Amino acid sequence: MPPDNPSLRLLHAHTLATDPSRFWVATRPGGVAGRGGAGGIGGASRRGAGSAERVVGFGSAVVRGGVWFLSMLFVRPGQQTSGIGRELLRRILPDVGASVALATVTDAAQPISNGLYASLGIVPRMPMFNFVGRPSRPEALVQLPHGIEATPFDEGHAGSPLAAAIAALDLETAGFAHPEDHAFVRRQGRSGFAYRTAGGDLAGYGYTAEAGRIGPIAVQDESLHAAVVAHLLTVVTPRGASAIWLPGGAGPTTEMLVRSGLRIDGFPVLLCWSRPFADFSRYLPISPGLL
Ligand SMILES: CC(C)(COP(=O)(O)OP(=O)(O)OC[C@H]1O[C@@H](n2cnc3c(N)ncnc32)[C@H](O)[C@@H]1OP(=O)(O)O)[C@@H](O)C(=O)NCCC(=O)NCCS
Repeated sequence: MPPDNPSLRLLHAHTLATDPSRFWVATRPGGVAGRGGAGGIGGASRRGAGSAERVVGFGSAVVRGGVWFLSMLFVRPGQQTSGIGRELLRRILPDVGASVALATVTDAAQPISNGLYASLGIVPRMPMFNFVGRPSRPEALVQLPHGIEATPFDEGHAGSPLAAAIAALDLETAGFAHPEDHAFVRRQGRSGFAYRTAGGDLAGYGYTAEAGRIGPIAVQDESLHAAVVAHLLTVVTPRGASAIWLPGGAGPTTEMLVRSGLRIDGFPVLLCWSRPFADFSRYLPISPGLL
Protein backbone atom coordinates (compact mmCIF):
# COMPACT_ATOMS: atom_id res chain seq x y z
CA MET A 1 0.00 0.00 0.00
CA PRO A 2 1.18 3.58 -0.54
CA PRO A 3 2.67 5.16 2.62
CA ASP A 4 -0.11 7.73 2.74
CA ASN A 5 -3.68 6.93 1.78
CA PRO A 6 -6.06 9.82 2.57
CA SER A 7 -9.30 7.82 2.36
CA LEU A 8 -7.86 5.15 4.65
CA ARG A 9 -6.86 7.85 7.16
CA LEU A 10 -10.44 9.19 7.09
CA LEU A 11 -11.74 5.67 7.79
CA HIS A 12 -9.34 5.27 10.74
CA ALA A 13 -10.39 8.68 12.10
CA HIS A 14 -14.05 7.67 11.81
CA THR A 15 -13.69 4.27 13.54
CA LEU A 16 -11.52 5.85 16.24
CA ALA A 17 -14.06 8.65 16.79
CA THR A 18 -17.11 6.36 16.89
CA ASP A 19 -15.64 3.46 18.90
CA PRO A 20 -12.44 4.72 20.58
CA SER A 21 -12.06 1.78 22.98
CA ARG A 22 -11.71 -0.62 20.06
CA PHE A 23 -8.72 0.96 18.29
CA TRP A 24 -5.41 -0.44 19.54
CA VAL A 25 -1.82 -0.40 18.37
CA ALA A 26 0.94 -2.85 19.31
CA THR A 27 4.36 -1.27 19.76
CA ARG A 28 7.91 -2.28 20.51
CA PRO A 29 10.23 0.04 22.38
CA GLY A 30 13.21 1.69 20.76
CA GLY A 31 12.34 0.87 17.16
CA VAL A 32 13.32 -2.77 17.69
CA ALA A 33 11.85 -4.76 14.82
CA GLY A 34 12.81 -8.22 16.02
CA ARG A 35 10.49 -11.18 16.07
CA GLY A 36 9.05 -12.36 19.38
CA GLY A 37 6.24 -14.35 20.91
CA ALA A 38 2.95 -12.92 22.12
CA GLY A 39 4.54 -12.24 25.51
CA GLY A 40 7.08 -10.04 23.76
CA ILE A 41 4.65 -7.33 22.70
CA GLY A 42 6.29 -4.17 24.00
CA GLY A 43 2.96 -2.55 24.63
CA ALA A 44 -0.56 -2.42 23.34
CA SER A 45 -1.99 1.01 23.70
CA ARG A 46 -5.01 3.05 22.73
CA ARG A 47 -2.99 6.25 22.94
CA GLY A 48 -0.69 5.67 19.99
CA ALA A 49 3.05 5.33 19.81
CA GLY A 50 5.61 7.87 20.98
CA SER A 51 8.71 8.60 18.93
CA ALA A 52 10.76 5.95 20.78
CA GLU A 53 8.24 3.27 19.90
CA ARG A 54 7.72 1.40 16.68
CA VAL A 55 4.19 0.38 15.76
CA VAL A 56 4.26 -3.29 14.79
CA GLY A 57 0.54 -3.81 14.42
CA PHE A 58 -2.87 -2.27 14.87
CA GLY A 59 -6.49 -3.33 15.05
CA SER A 60 -9.74 -1.39 14.82
CA ALA A 61 -13.34 -2.54 15.29
CA VAL A 62 -16.74 -0.92 15.71
CA VAL A 63 -19.95 -2.06 17.35
CA ARG A 64 -23.19 -1.04 15.65
CA GLY A 65 -26.29 -2.33 17.41
CA GLY A 66 -25.89 -6.09 17.83
CA VAL A 67 -23.03 -6.40 15.33
CA TRP A 68 -19.29 -6.21 16.03
CA PHE A 69 -17.30 -5.47 12.87
CA LEU A 70 -13.54 -5.75 12.54
CA SER A 71 -12.51 -2.86 10.30
CA MET A 72 -8.75 -3.39 10.19
CA LEU A 73 -6.10 -5.71 11.59
CA PHE A 74 -2.52 -5.58 10.39
CA VAL A 75 0.79 -6.85 11.75
CA ARG A 76 4.12 -6.00 10.14
CA PRO A 77 5.54 -8.66 7.82
CA GLY A 78 8.34 -10.38 9.71
CA GLN A 79 6.34 -10.17 12.95
CA GLN A 80 3.33 -12.13 11.72
CA THR A 81 2.13 -15.49 13.14
CA SER A 82 3.75 -14.79 16.51
CA GLY A 83 0.50 -14.01 18.34
CA ILE A 84 0.33 -10.21 17.98
CA GLY A 85 -2.79 -10.27 15.81
CA ARG A 86 -4.63 -12.62 18.15
CA GLU A 87 -3.74 -10.43 21.17
CA LEU A 88 -4.92 -7.24 19.44
CA LEU A 89 -8.15 -9.04 18.56
CA ARG A 90 -8.62 -10.18 22.17
CA ARG A 91 -8.53 -6.53 23.27
CA ILE A 92 -11.07 -5.28 20.74
CA LEU A 93 -13.51 -8.20 20.70
CA PRO A 94 -16.74 -7.91 22.75
CA ASP A 95 -16.78 -9.50 26.19
CA VAL A 96 -17.13 -13.28 26.16
CA GLY A 97 -20.83 -14.17 26.27
CA ALA A 98 -21.97 -10.86 24.76
CA SER A 99 -24.88 -11.42 22.42
CA VAL A 100 -23.46 -9.88 19.28
CA ALA A 101 -22.73 -11.20 15.80
CA LEU A 102 -19.02 -11.01 14.89
CA ALA A 103 -18.18 -9.99 11.34
CA THR A 104 -15.34 -8.82 9.13
CA VAL A 105 -14.14 -8.74 5.52
CA THR A 106 -10.89 -10.48 4.60
CA ASP A 107 -8.61 -10.57 1.62
CA ALA A 108 -9.21 -13.94 -0.09
CA ALA A 109 -5.44 -14.26 -0.62
CA GLN A 110 -4.57 -14.08 3.12
CA PRO A 111 -4.54 -17.51 4.79
CA ILE A 112 -3.42 -16.16 8.18
CA SER A 113 -6.34 -13.77 8.64
CA ASN A 114 -8.89 -16.19 7.20
CA GLY A 115 -7.61 -18.92 9.53
CA LEU A 116 -7.25 -16.66 12.58
CA TYR A 117 -10.82 -15.33 12.32
CA ALA A 118 -12.24 -18.78 11.53
CA SER A 119 -10.60 -20.06 14.75
CA LEU A 120 -12.80 -17.51 16.56
CA GLY A 121 -15.95 -18.59 14.69
CA ILE A 122 -15.80 -15.65 12.24
CA VAL A 123 -15.89 -17.86 9.15
CA PRO A 124 -15.37 -16.68 5.53
CA ARG A 125 -18.75 -17.27 3.85
CA MET A 126 -19.43 -14.96 0.90
CA PRO A 127 -17.28 -13.32 -1.81
CA MET A 128 -17.54 -9.61 -2.47
CA PHE A 129 -16.29 -8.47 -5.88
CA ASN A 130 -14.97 -5.04 -6.80
CA PHE A 131 -16.72 -4.09 -10.05
CA VAL A 132 -15.19 -1.17 -11.94
CA GLY A 133 -15.79 0.64 -15.22
CA ARG A 134 -18.77 2.17 -16.94
CA PRO A 135 -21.86 0.53 -18.45
CA SER A 136 -20.70 0.34 -22.09
CA ARG A 137 -23.79 -1.80 -22.83
CA PRO A 138 -26.50 0.28 -21.07
CA GLU A 139 -29.29 -1.82 -22.62
CA ALA A 140 -28.36 -4.49 -20.02
CA LEU A 141 -29.19 -2.13 -17.13
CA VAL A 142 -32.44 -2.83 -15.27
CA GLN A 143 -34.86 0.12 -15.14
CA LEU A 144 -36.58 1.26 -11.95
CA PRO A 145 -40.07 -0.27 -11.86
CA HIS A 146 -43.05 1.90 -12.67
CA GLY A 147 -44.20 3.77 -9.55
CA ILE A 148 -40.77 3.95 -7.85
CA GLU A 149 -39.49 7.51 -7.65
CA ALA A 150 -35.88 8.49 -6.89
CA THR A 151 -35.15 11.72 -5.03
CA PRO A 152 -31.82 13.05 -3.72
CA PHE A 153 -31.37 13.64 0.00
CA ASP A 154 -28.60 15.42 1.88
CA GLU A 155 -27.25 16.43 5.28
CA GLY A 156 -30.54 18.02 6.24
CA HIS A 157 -32.24 14.68 6.70
CA ALA A 158 -30.85 13.96 10.21
CA GLY A 159 -33.73 13.56 12.68
CA SER A 160 -36.33 13.55 9.89
CA PRO A 161 -38.95 10.88 9.08
CA LEU A 162 -36.65 9.81 6.22
CA ALA A 163 -33.77 9.26 8.68
CA ALA A 164 -36.05 7.08 10.79
CA ALA A 165 -37.16 5.10 7.73
CA ILE A 166 -33.53 4.60 6.66
CA ALA A 167 -32.60 3.42 10.16
CA ALA A 168 -35.50 0.93 10.11
CA LEU A 169 -34.48 -0.33 6.67
CA ASP A 170 -30.84 -0.72 7.77
CA LEU A 171 -31.96 -2.65 10.85
CA GLU A 172 -33.99 -5.01 8.68
CA THR A 173 -31.40 -5.57 5.92
CA ALA A 174 -27.98 -4.96 7.51
CA GLY A 175 -28.97 -6.01 11.01
CA PHE A 176 -28.15 -2.62 12.60
CA ALA A 177 -28.88 1.10 12.20
CA HIS A 178 -25.85 3.36 11.69
CA PRO A 179 -26.64 7.06 11.21
CA GLU A 180 -23.02 7.90 12.15
CA ASP A 181 -21.80 5.94 9.11
CA HIS A 182 -24.33 7.65 6.83
CA ALA A 183 -22.92 10.98 8.03
CA PHE A 184 -19.41 9.65 7.28
CA VAL A 185 -20.20 8.69 3.67
CA ARG A 186 -21.89 12.05 3.07
CA ARG A 187 -18.79 13.82 4.45
CA GLN A 188 -16.81 11.83 1.88
CA GLY A 189 -18.83 13.43 -0.89
CA ARG A 190 -21.25 10.62 -1.64
CA SER A 191 -24.80 11.71 -2.62
CA GLY A 192 -27.81 9.86 -1.25
CA PHE A 193 -30.95 8.91 -3.18
CA ALA A 194 -34.21 7.72 -1.64
CA TYR A 195 -36.48 5.39 -3.63
CA ARG A 196 -40.15 5.74 -2.72
CA THR A 197 -43.31 3.94 -3.75
CA ALA A 198 -46.27 5.86 -5.15
CA GLY A 199 -47.68 5.77 -1.61
CA GLY A 200 -44.55 7.51 -0.30
CA ASP A 201 -43.06 4.53 1.55
CA LEU A 202 -39.28 4.09 1.49
CA ALA A 203 -38.48 1.17 -0.85
CA GLY A 204 -34.73 1.70 -0.69
CA TYR A 205 -31.82 4.13 -0.58
CA GLY A 206 -28.35 4.29 -2.10
CA TYR A 207 -25.28 6.52 -2.46
CA THR A 208 -23.17 7.45 -5.45
CA ALA A 209 -20.33 9.93 -5.97
CA GLU A 210 -18.53 11.88 -8.66
CA ALA A 211 -15.40 10.09 -7.46
CA GLY A 212 -17.06 6.88 -8.70
CA ARG A 213 -17.70 4.85 -5.56
CA ILE A 214 -21.25 3.48 -5.18
CA GLY A 215 -22.77 2.31 -1.87
CA PRO A 216 -24.07 1.70 0.72
CA ILE A 217 -27.41 0.51 -0.65
CA ALA A 218 -30.43 -1.06 1.07
CA VAL A 219 -33.73 -2.14 -0.47
CA GLN A 220 -36.94 -3.50 1.05
CA ASP A 221 -37.33 -6.07 -1.72
CA GLU A 222 -34.36 -7.78 -3.36
CA SER A 223 -36.06 -7.46 -6.77
CA LEU A 224 -35.27 -3.70 -6.59
CA HIS A 225 -31.52 -4.16 -5.94
CA ALA A 226 -30.30 -4.28 -9.57
CA ALA A 227 -32.50 -1.34 -10.63
CA VAL A 228 -31.19 0.82 -7.77
CA VAL A 229 -27.57 -0.02 -8.67
CA ALA A 230 -28.32 0.78 -12.33
CA HIS A 231 -29.90 4.12 -11.35
CA LEU A 232 -26.93 5.06 -9.16
CA LEU A 233 -24.55 4.16 -12.01
CA THR A 234 -26.22 6.61 -14.35
CA VAL A 235 -27.79 9.40 -12.24
CA VAL A 236 -24.35 10.89 -11.48
CA THR A 237 -21.64 10.71 -14.15
CA PRO A 238 -18.35 10.03 -12.38
CA ARG A 239 -15.12 11.80 -13.32
CA GLY A 240 -13.59 8.40 -14.18
CA ALA A 241 -14.78 4.85 -13.65
CA SER A 242 -17.56 3.73 -11.34
CA ALA A 243 -16.60 1.29 -8.60
CA ILE A 244 -18.85 -0.92 -6.50
CA TRP A 245 -18.18 -3.66 -3.92
CA LEU A 246 -20.90 -6.21 -4.60
CA PRO A 247 -21.63 -9.15 -2.24
CA GLY A 248 -22.22 -12.48 -3.97
CA GLY A 249 -25.66 -12.60 -2.33
CA ALA A 250 -26.87 -10.05 -4.90
CA GLY A 251 -27.02 -12.55 -7.79
CA PRO A 252 -29.15 -10.67 -10.36
CA THR A 253 -27.08 -7.49 -9.83
CA THR A 254 -23.85 -9.43 -10.42
CA GLU A 255 -25.29 -10.73 -13.70
CA MET A 256 -26.44 -7.23 -14.73
CA LEU A 257 -23.10 -5.57 -14.01
CA VAL A 258 -21.07 -8.07 -16.05
CA ARG A 259 -23.54 -7.91 -18.95
CA SER A 260 -23.56 -4.10 -18.91
CA GLY A 261 -19.79 -3.99 -19.34
CA LEU A 262 -18.39 -3.43 -15.85
CA ARG A 263 -15.38 -5.61 -15.03
CA ILE A 264 -14.27 -7.50 -11.94
CA ASP A 265 -11.11 -5.93 -10.55
CA GLY A 266 -8.71 -8.43 -8.97
CA PHE A 267 -9.61 -11.16 -6.52
CA PRO A 268 -12.68 -10.99 -4.28
CA VAL A 269 -12.65 -10.16 -0.61
CA LEU A 270 -14.60 -12.45 1.71
CA LEU A 271 -17.47 -11.52 4.03
CA CYS A 272 -17.05 -13.44 7.28
CA TRP A 273 -19.48 -13.84 10.15
CA SER A 274 -20.06 -15.88 13.30
CA ARG A 275 -23.83 -16.05 12.78
CA PRO A 276 -26.17 -14.64 10.13
CA PHE A 277 -27.09 -10.99 10.77
CA ALA A 278 -27.59 -9.34 7.37
CA ASP A 279 -29.36 -10.04 4.09
CA PHE A 280 -26.74 -9.36 1.43
CA SER A 281 -29.30 -9.77 -1.36
CA ARG A 282 -30.76 -6.48 -0.04
CA TYR A 283 -27.85 -4.70 1.67
CA LEU A 284 -24.61 -3.53 0.02
CA PRO A 285 -21.88 -2.38 2.45
CA ILE A 286 -20.03 0.95 2.48
CA SER A 287 -16.66 -0.69 1.82
CA PRO A 288 -14.65 -3.73 2.94
CA GLY A 289 -13.55 -1.62 5.94
CA LEU A 290 -16.99 -0.52 7.16
CA LEU A 291 -20.33 -2.27 6.81
C1 LIG B 1 -3.77 -11.24 9.71
C2 LIG B 1 -2.76 -10.75 10.73
C3 LIG B 1 -3.19 -9.40 11.27
C4 LIG B 1 -2.74 -11.76 11.89
O1 LIG B 1 -1.82 -11.37 12.86
P1 LIG B 1 -0.61 -12.35 13.30
O2 LIG B 1 0.07 -11.74 14.45
O3 LIG B 1 0.20 -12.63 12.07
O4 LIG B 1 -1.39 -13.70 13.66
P2 LIG B 1 -1.35 -14.54 15.02
O5 LIG B 1 0.03 -15.05 15.22
O6 LIG B 1 -1.92 -13.75 16.14
O7 LIG B 1 -2.36 -15.70 14.67
C5 LIG B 1 -1.90 -16.93 14.23
C6 LIG B 1 -3.13 -17.75 13.85
O8 LIG B 1 -3.47 -17.53 12.45
C7 LIG B 1 -4.01 -18.74 11.93
N1 LIG B 1 -3.18 -19.15 10.81
C8 LIG B 1 -1.89 -18.77 10.54
N2 LIG B 1 -1.50 -19.33 9.38
C9 LIG B 1 -2.54 -20.03 8.89
C10 LIG B 1 -2.77 -20.83 7.74
N3 LIG B 1 -1.84 -21.00 6.79
N4 LIG B 1 -3.97 -21.43 7.59
C11 LIG B 1 -4.93 -21.28 8.51
N5 LIG B 1 -4.77 -20.54 9.64
C12 LIG B 1 -3.60 -19.92 9.83
C13 LIG B 1 -4.02 -19.76 13.04
O9 LIG B 1 -5.30 -19.66 13.69
C14 LIG B 1 -2.95 -19.24 13.95
O10 LIG B 1 -3.12 -19.62 15.30
P3 LIG B 1 -2.43 -20.99 15.83
O11 LIG B 1 -1.04 -20.96 15.33
O12 LIG B 1 -2.57 -20.87 17.31
O13 LIG B 1 -3.26 -22.09 15.23
C15 LIG B 1 -1.36 -10.60 10.10
O14 LIG B 1 -0.88 -11.87 9.70
C16 LIG B 1 -1.33 -9.67 8.89
O15 LIG B 1 -1.15 -8.47 9.03
N6 LIG B 1 -1.51 -10.24 7.67
C17 LIG B 1 -1.47 -9.47 6.45
C18 LIG B 1 -2.60 -8.46 6.35
C19 LIG B 1 -3.96 -9.04 6.57
O16 LIG B 1 -4.33 -10.04 5.97
N7 LIG B 1 -4.72 -8.36 7.44
C20 LIG B 1 -6.08 -8.70 7.69
C21 LIG B 1 -6.94 -7.89 6.80
S1 LIG B 1 -8.28 -8.84 6.20
